[in-house]
Amino acid sequence: MALLARFAVVSDLHIALPHTVWDSPSRFHLVEVSIPAFEQILDHLEQVGIDFLLLPGDLVQHGERENHEWLIRRLEQLSYPVYVVPGNHDVIRQGGCDRTISLDEFILMYQNFGYSDPSRPYYHHKILDGLHLIGLNSNGFEPNGDPLYTGWLDPEQLDWLDQQLAQLTDQLTLVMLHHNALEHLPRQASSPMGQRYMVKNASDLTQRLQTANLPVMFTGHLHVQDIAQADQLYEVTTGSLVSYPHPYRICELTTANDAHCLDITSHRIEAVPDWPTLQATSQQWMGDRSFPFMMKLLTSSPLYLSPVEAEQYAPALRDFWATIAAGDARFDFSELPPQLQRYLHSFSALDTDGQPRYIDNDATLWLQTH
Ligand SMILES: [Fe+2]
Ligand SMILES: [Fe+2]
Repeated sequence: MALLARFAVVSDLHIALPHTVWDSPSRFHLVEVSIPAFEQILDHLEQVGIDFLLLPGDLVQHGERENHEWLIRRLEQLSYPVYVVPGNHDVIRQGGCDRTISLDEFILMYQNFGYSDPSRPYYHHKILDGLHLIGLNSNGFEPNGDPLYTGWLDPEQLDWLDQQLAQLTDQLTLVMLHHNALEHLPRQASSPMGQRYMVKNASDLTQRLQTANLPVMFTGHLHVQDIAQADQLYEVTTGSLVSYPHPYRICELTTANDAHCLDITSHRIEAVPDWPTLQATSQQWMGDRSFPFMMKLLTSSPLYLSPVEAEQYAPALRDFWATIAAGDARFDFSELPPQLQRYLHSFSALDTDGQPRYIDNDATLWLQTH
């Protein structure tokens, strides 16, 4: 086995300088830990020694120019290449406004981090001999510049992707985008709550990648640790730096006899100076804010519980979302009615046959490249 590359993935950093932090009691994300948590990761990566770093979008809290500028200055100090793609929170309107950047500015600002050709918001980069990266833009906008509710890959980008894929036969190529292209939750593509996190025309991407034997996509947006698989195509979605369990991944690509293997190890930020019990506090924070979400889940399809029934069960499910976010969920709700139990159990870490499969955090994936 020869080591081809070691790299890290940090997603949904939502970088927020202290004076830019939104002051809202219902805010779901602990953006105040973004900078100290990122610094801690950079220290760790310095010790480990990596060849490159992937940041699959939602780099800043909410499009703020000064948060982007802080991050770019920090990334410029690193000794290894960093590649980014835009998330929905990086460009909140296509044309930007006074305090937030436009999509065109995003490309120009991040030209040292993937966008060496500033004419389009997606890129193809040869990382090293035998390893390529395609960075896609999954942010779509209405004609008036407002963001779309879901992710979207426009036809021009898909045509461009076809041209790239035609040149990439037998080259190991990683793909990075912000929104999900495979389902990470039951019925994610068909439920209004789940669709928001997916690329609306995801099959236009996944079919192309499967035909071209591209084996793996790296995404974010969902703030959940999950690895999904459709035939030979994997999607590794990495949870958010600013929400429980504050994860990041270190990956090793090795080759042996023409086969490629991706070894993934996940780590967590256990504490930062102002948050000495970050893991426990953050899980609590998420539980405290998840009641409206659980009510919506229980009262919509397929359960359609009445609000009165849902209110009865929601408190017992306060850690449900945190457990999903942590990946490798093992749910047992034997005290609940069978129909509810079956539905909630389907959110456990299961393979396509419904058998337990714990690959969300630590995994060894054999990648098909021809
Ligand atoms: Fe995010
Ligand atoms: Fe996002």
